[in-house]
Parts: sequence; C-alpha cells; structure tokens
Amino acid sequence: NAPLRVAIAGLGTVGAGTVRLLQDHADLITARCGRPVEITAVCARDRTRDRGCDLSGIAWFDDPVAMAREGGADVVVEVIGGTSGAARDTVEAALASGCSVVTANKALLAVHGLDLARAAEQAGAHLAYEAAVAGGIPIIKALREGLAGNRVRRIYGILNGTCNYILTTMQETGRGFDDVLGEAQRLGYAEADPSFDVDGVDAAHKLAILTSLAFGRPVDFPAVSIEGIRRVDAMDIAFADALGYRIKLLGVAEDTEHGVLQRVHPCLVPKGGSIASVDGVYNAVVMEGDHAGRSMLEGRGAGAGPTASAVVADIMDLTCGRTAPAFGVSVDDLRQGPSAPIETH
Ligand code: HSE
Repeated sequence: NAPLRVAIAGLGTVGAGTVRLLQDHADLITARCGRPVEITAVCARDRTRDRGCDLSGIAWFDDPVAMAREGGADVVVEVIGGTSGAARDTVEAALASGCSVVTANKALLAVHGLDLARAAEQAGAHLAYEAAVAGGIPIIKALREGLAGNRVRRIYGILNGTCNYILTTMQETGRGFDDVLGEAQRLGYAEADPSFDVDGVDAAHKLAILTSLAFGRPVDFPAVSIEGIRRVDAMDIAFADALGYRIKLLGVAEDTEHGVLQRVHPCLVPKGGSIASVDGVYNAVVMEGDHAGRSMLEGRGAGAGPTASAVVADIMDLTCGRTAPAFGVSVDDLRQGPSAPIETH
C-alpha cells in the first residue's frame, strides 16, 4: 500500500522526537495503519546538528513554506512554534495546497485556530493537534470521541508541565524559582520564551483550545483570565502546606448560565486529592460530562517522548483515514455566545 508522505517543519525537541518515534516504531505503525508512514522532507535551520535520528535520504528544506508547497507531502507536521511568521505561514501554505496539518502549536491554535480550521475545511484537508494540549495525554481524542455523547459542564486541570515541575520541586526541595526554571529549560519542557509558561499564557492557550472543543465554541483566547506563578514564593508554599493544601496552577473552563468562564491562576488544592498528587512535569485534565460524570486523565505534559507520541497518533489517524472536524463540528456550527465575567478568584 502507498505510504503516507509526511514533511516535518522544525527539528527541535518535538520534531526530532517525532522522527525518532516514526523510525523506531515503523513496523508497528505500518501494521496498525495498513500502510507505512514515510518522512519525505524535513526543514530546520542547522543541518549539521546531531539530533539522535537518521535523516539520510530525506529531502532538506531551509524554508518551511517552500517545503509545505513543494515537499510533495500528504501531511505537513508543524513543530516550529510561535503564532506568526514561519509557523503560521507554513500551516496556511500547507492547507491552501490541500495538505493536512498536524501541529503541536497551541499558541497558533489559540490565536488563529478558527481561521485555520475554516481553511482546512475549505481545502478538504484536516487540522489535527493532539500534541498541542497536555503533551502525551490523549485529551483531544477523549473529548472529541470518548465524551462525544455528553454535554461537558466543566473542564479543568494542570496544563503546564513547566509550572507544575517548578511548584513541585520548590515544594519538595525548597530550591528557588529561577534555579528550578533553568532546570525545566534544560530538560526541554519550557517554551522558547519561558515567560509563556510562568505567566500562565501557555496554560491559557491550551485552555482556550479545550474550551472550544468541550463546549462547541469558537476559540476565544482573549477571554481567558490569566495569572501565572511568578508571585508564588517559598512562604506561600509553606503556609499552604501547613493548612493542608498544595499550590497548583490550574486552568478552569465552565459553561455557566452567564456564558463560558475561562481562567488560569494558582489554586490551593487539598493535599491527598487527585489533583494535588500530580507532580513534576505531569499534567492532569478533569472532564465533567453530564452523563459520564467526572473523569480524569494524567500524564507527562511536556518533553520529546510524550509530545512526539501525540504527534504520531495524529499522523496515524490520517494514515488510516480517521478524520474529524478540528473542533468537533464544522466551524459554521460552533455556537456563538458570551464569555462570563470574572468576578473573583
Ligand atoms: N512548555 C510547555 C509545558 C510544553 O511546560 O507544559 C508543553 O506544551
């Protein structure tokens, strides 16, 4: 059977992890999809760096937009990151030429997700983004498929691995914020601009995407109320501990009678509860469906392996022809409606 041809834009932590996974599990992927996945092109700035994967025989492009247009792929994987410039241009160029897109880019989806979903629909292409939210946790599939028959009332959780790693390590070791952030950067968890992590913006991007999918609304990132963890210090963590709590950065979205409420901020959660015991780079997402009730998924929220795992799941869906509208329903069927005012935290 003819292979699915994949072009990968960006060979950083996630891009190189994706190449490694596709190569390590080539047989398994072929068996499960009934045809192989072939990496036909890659694009990265530095051709000389050792990325721990075999890139021989794969076409190299310096320009990701040129690769999207001329790379001859069925699917373009965008793991460049960022909301403007190369990432957006690459995704738009791929969709315009009828090529489906797999992206891990939560910022791009939070800001331009609706337009990109519309562009995909108009081109008869698909936009898949399991890797954009909560790393290795299959949260997009859980919401879109597993809970498809429910009305979701509320969705919340730990959506940023870097912040959870920092808060957990400060709690366990008493080490300072900057020191632990540096470690999260070295481990490949943090964003290129780590203020996106610690100021809650990355979690807000992910929450806006989940909100759209869970409630069938257009993505509305500006409506998210955001507070990060910069002001959480060792004293706060010690007082919370003495009172029986942990401090976690949570993203919360609720469908209320006043509209949809979206907020990201540090929360006190009771020690011994399921959210409090999610430590380190782990993320957790709790979904409340009107028929299914409460369910929680926990897993590694960042890093090469977990994120590549989600990228490859999307590639495999496309290889097998398992497709769905990006936000669960056609963009014209997303419900408009007010955002609820934030009164207090
Ligand atoms: N910087 C992000 C995090 C990476 O720490 O969760 C995964 O989106």
